[in-house]
Amino acid sequence: MEVVIAPADELARLAADAIEERLRREPGTVLGVATGSSPLKVYDELARRHAEEGLSFARARAFMLDEYVGLAADHPQRYRNVVEAELASRVDLAPGALCGPDGLADDLPAACAAYEEAIADAGGVDVQILGIGTDGHIAFNEPGSSLASRTRIKTLTAQTRQDNARFFDDDLEQVPRHCLTQGLATIMSARHLLLLATGRGKAEAVHQLVEGPVTAMWPATIVQMHPHATVLVDDAAAGRLQLADYYRQTYASKPGWQGL
Ligand code: GLP
Repeated sequence: MEVVIAPADELARLAADAIEERLRREPGTVLGVATGSSPLKVYDELARRHAEEGLSFARARAFMLDEYVGLAADHPQRYRNVVEAELASRVDLAPGALCGPDGLADDLPAACAAYEEAIADAGGVDVQILGIGTDGHIAFNEPGSSLASRTRIKTLTAQTRQDNARFFDDDLEQVPRHCLTQGLATIMSARHLLLLATGRGKAEAVHQLVEGPVTAMWPATIVQMHPHATVLVDDAAAGRLQLADYYRQTYASKPGWQGL
């Protein structure tokens, strides 16, 4: 696991560099896309590079991490609509290249199984963008999630519903109670994980993620077992890291050719 501590704009550029490098080398790259505020600057940077520098997504595919259950197809907070607005519509992803679990399916377990199959059929995710919840969840794998889980239905914790109420006019009642989410094992199958976290509110989750024992109580800690994981954090989110100085020194003396 590599930890990079830098201002938010630089983190976004670094994440975009890793994605661009991969896309230019392999135009058919399979991206894993996250929702939440953490990846927004990355999407802005990718959209800018598409508009100004010809970065193309035309042959790429993008798989979403998760989706609320039961939000109407045209609801602006439906994750598919969020990713469409924040990324897909701003680059040249082909129609149909954005895939997500179907939170409106009649048969939700079948929709989850179909989603796992679609990811496998695409050859797996090459670069997965991740955020982290204040309780240490990734995608919607809440505390207690099986470390071996695959895509399935989950119940959101009170904390996550409260954290996400800001996207629903601060009205907790509007926040769905259930979601479909890639499991921890699904996420761990991606070839490169790029996890972004900014702000003091994430400091404890980031500390656990990087330095805590691997436990289902902090689901993101499973990322410690990944062979290629990059954790991109600003000073505030790095605030509780015991080895912050070591991570800073390591990154500062990293050879330029190495990339993330
Ligand atoms: C939601 C998403 C997660 C995201 C988390 C943190 O719960 N399902 O994928 O990481 O929010 O969101 P934010 O980046 O807005 O703090």
